Order: sequence, then structure tokens, then C-alpha cells
Amino acid sequence: MGGMNRKPLMVGNWKMHGAHLEAIQRVQKLSYLLDPGDYDRVDVAVAPPFTSLRSVQTVIEMDRLPILIAAQNMHWEEAGAYTGEISAPMLAKLSVSYVIAGHSERRRLFGEDDRTVNRKVKAALSAGLTPIAAVGETIEQREAGEAARVLRGQISGALARIPTEDIPRLVVAYEPVWAIGTGRHADPSDAQETASALRESIRKRHGNAADRVRILYGGSINPGNAAALMAKRDIDGGLVGGASLDPHTFASCVRYWK
Ligand code: PGA
Repeated sequence: MGGMNRKPLMVGNWKMHGAHLEAIQRVQKLSYLLDPGDYDRVDVAVAPPFTSLRSVQTVIEMDRLPILIAAQNMHWEEAGAYTGEISAPMLAKLSVSYVIAGHSERRRLFGEDDRTVNRKVKAALSAGLTPIAAVGETIEQREAGEAARVLRGQISGALARIPTEDIPRLVVAYEPVWAIGTGRHADPSDAQETASALRESIRKRHGNAADRVRILYGGSINPGNAAALMAKRDIDGGLVGGASLDPHTFASCVRYWK
């Protein structure tokens, strides 16, 4: 678990899986598996597809569940002629707390880059949402010894012109691209080294506010490896994809210490 009193955050990224009825069931089952002690120890969030956000919000409010809602993406403008897009204020109205910006699938498949990530981070902050800025190197970059440089570029791009006073609210997700959906998670010591390097690069510009940023690891987290990853000093939680679709395996990731 992360140091400096950072409360761990475990986010289930459902990606493009399931319609709203399935989402309702998934969140209800998850709530049966978790107890108040778990929520005291870990912030628990789920990131359903847009079409399920309203349904998930309704279940959470009706049953007063301490589960937080995340969105997987959004547009940076508040409103306008942007067919097919969703804005930060729309998400805020649905009690969404977090929004992922710059997931590697969006960078690779949908042309997201550091500039759009930065716009989304700013828009999320001004709507009162917490951005989860995702960064990660590809296998080619890693093998060429370029991972550190790539990650420094991504993090400074994502956080460009964010005032230091907003930095403590941020969440960063380190997700090595080669570990996403591959069953091949990063070695916990390597992930710690990278998380620490990311924190130091935030510190260069923002000083000790960097100690308040939660840095998540993502990429093939499962109940078998979560504890070892979460034990690391600079890793303050996880972004869980495949293992979050089954409430049992996601609950085991949330309760990684048990
Ligand atoms: P994975 O996905 O856990 O299935 O590797 C993680 C992510 O893409 O956030």
C-alpha cells in the first residue's frame, strides 16, 4: 500500500463489456461481497460503459452503496456540436467521481495524445471530477530503453499547466501497454521503480504536492498478484480490466490484503 497516508483506490475498468442490466447485476453482486471495513481501507470504483452509468448510479443511490463511479472517457468541451461525445458536466450530473484520460486503448485506437489528455484532465478538474491520467510504454519502447523518457513525456504532457493546488486531487495510472489484457503483469519491483520515477517527475514541477497524488498500477492485475503490487510504496491502487468483470475476482483484488 502506498505511503504518506494515500488511501488506495481500486478501479474496475469494464471497457466495452455488457449492457445496463448486466452492469446492475455486477455492481449489486460486488456490493454483497464487500463489507464496510473494505471501503474504509480502499476506495472502490467501477467504470462502466456510458450506457450503464445512469443505471449504476441509480443502484448505488438506492442501496446507499459506498462504491464510486468512474467514466472511461469524455470530451474536453462542456457542450457543443461534437456528435457522439459526452462532457464532464454531464458525467458530474450522474454522480461520476473519476474519469480515465489517455487509456492506451484510446491512444492506440482512437488517436488520443498527450494534448487531448491534458485538455481532458483540465476539463475534468473544472467540473469537479478526478481525472485518472493513464500513461504507459509499449514493449518496443521498453526494449529500446526508452520507457523512462516516454513516461516523463506523457506525464508532463498530461499535466501541462495544471496548477499545483490541483495536483493533490489527481490520480495517475501507470499501465505498461504490454501488460494490458495479456496476462503478463509487470514485476512489482519494476512497477514500483516506475511509479516512484513518475512521482519524482511530478515533484520537479509541483514539489511535495506529488506525495498526495495516487499512482495506480494497471495491466493484468488479478487476485494472485494484487497483494505484491499493492505492497509497494509508490503504488496506491490498481486499474483492473479483465479481472473486474467478475465481481468475485474484482472483490478479491479490492481485498488484496486478505
Ligand atoms: P487488464 O486491463 O487488467 O485486462 O490488463 C487493465 C486496463 O486496461 O485498465
